[in-house]
Amino acid sequence: MNTIKFPIEKFQRLDTPFYYYDTALLDATLDAAKAAAEGLARIHYAVKACANPKILGRIARAGFGADCVSGGEITAAIKAGFAPADIVFAGVGKSDREIRTALEAGIGCFNVESRPELENIGRIAVEMGRTARVAFRINPDVDAHTHAKITTGKAENKFGIAMDDMVQAIRTAESLEGVEYEGLHFHIGSQILETAPFEQLALRINELQDRLEAEGIRTASINVGGGLGIDYDAPDEHPVPDFQAYFDTFRRTLRLRPHQALHCELGRSITGQCGSLIARVLYVKQTATKQFAILDAGMTELVRPAMYGSLHAMQNLTSDRPAETYDIVGPVCESSDVFGKNYPLAGTVRGDFVALRSAGAYGEAMASCYNCRPLPQACFSDEL
Ligand code: LLP
Repeated sequence: MNTIKFPIEKFQRLDTPFYYYDTALLDATLDAAKAAAEGLARIHYAVKACANPKILGRIARAGFGADCVSGGEITAAIKAGFAPADIVFAGVGKSDREIRTALEAGIGCFNVESRPELENIGRIAVEMGRTARVAFRINPDVDAHTHAKITTGKAENKFGIAMDDMVQAIRTAESLEGVEYEGLHFHIGSQILETAPFEQLALRINELQDRLEAEGIRTASINVGGGLGIDYDAPDEHPVPDFQAYFDTFRRTLRLRPHQALHCELGRSITGQCGSLIARVLYVKQTATKQFAILDAGMTELVRPAMYGSLHAMQNLTSDRPAETYDIVGPVCESSDVFGKNYPLAGTVRGDFVALRSAGAYGEAMASCYNCRPLPQACFSDEL
């Protein structure tokens, strides 16, 4: 099993809080994802999950493509070694500057979310003497059964083009200079642990493909987005997500045409489990009803608990005392700066190291400088 061993001796020399990435687990995850996708799909790593340059470099060297949502991510991906042609660019509000950055770099495909955006990309491409390959992000109206804030594929969400507008959008692309219709793009949401929503997505794509064929439209590529979830409750039991079940769902259900390429954009499932936020306990504070473990990391380093109510498994790395329950909180001046309430932790004293697990995705990438706190540093198991 690829469980993480924390090098506590080496942590003693470092200033907390910091992100710790287990690169052996990242490599094992990349290998598993590649093996499961073999012969079926090209994986574009969703850079938004973790854009740490060393992590990006490792994923690029493993042969993955990249899924970017801003000009900044495109620049970071190219710097880390991803081939521009292997980059797809999504996002509901791409600015002119970002579109130029993408065209200049020669990225593989724009995932377009509206007709005005299509026209703008075409206009800029003509100005620059380039052609932009475009895929349309279609809103498939599939419920991902996940947290409301990370559901994206329902009719009410801001993302994508309605299914009924799909043919018209493709016809517009065919009539415009500067753009070339490449395919369809989807993304139904994130942290999806069941296969049923992916199966529904595949069935929906089959219907849409039949519609396109009836119209005589040739589609070169299908991109099913990301969304495969990870086990936040028991990271050591499932350090590597079930990529096989995920890809087999598409193998079984999606009717790809012989000339078609399948793409996906996995983020969380690639980097989530290899990263932990390491904090020190500043104080243990007793009140009449509770005890608090106050960490030197807070919502500025890991915002998911405050933002989505997520619970990251926590462990005291330096105590073997009997467990007690604590409200584990950060130092930021917000009452939502709480990592867990009545959470069982080995008896804790000032100076102990606490690991917040499964923080490799949407952890470091979402850190902020609120309260003038510095951004967290990162360290890697193979460099300590
Ligand atoms: N493709 C598109 C178009 C996306 O919007 C996303 C994520 C992905 C791919 C990657 O999805 P993944 O495989 O990581 O589920 N900050 C939230 C998650 C937001 C996800 C946004 N889109 C969190 O911390 O849970």
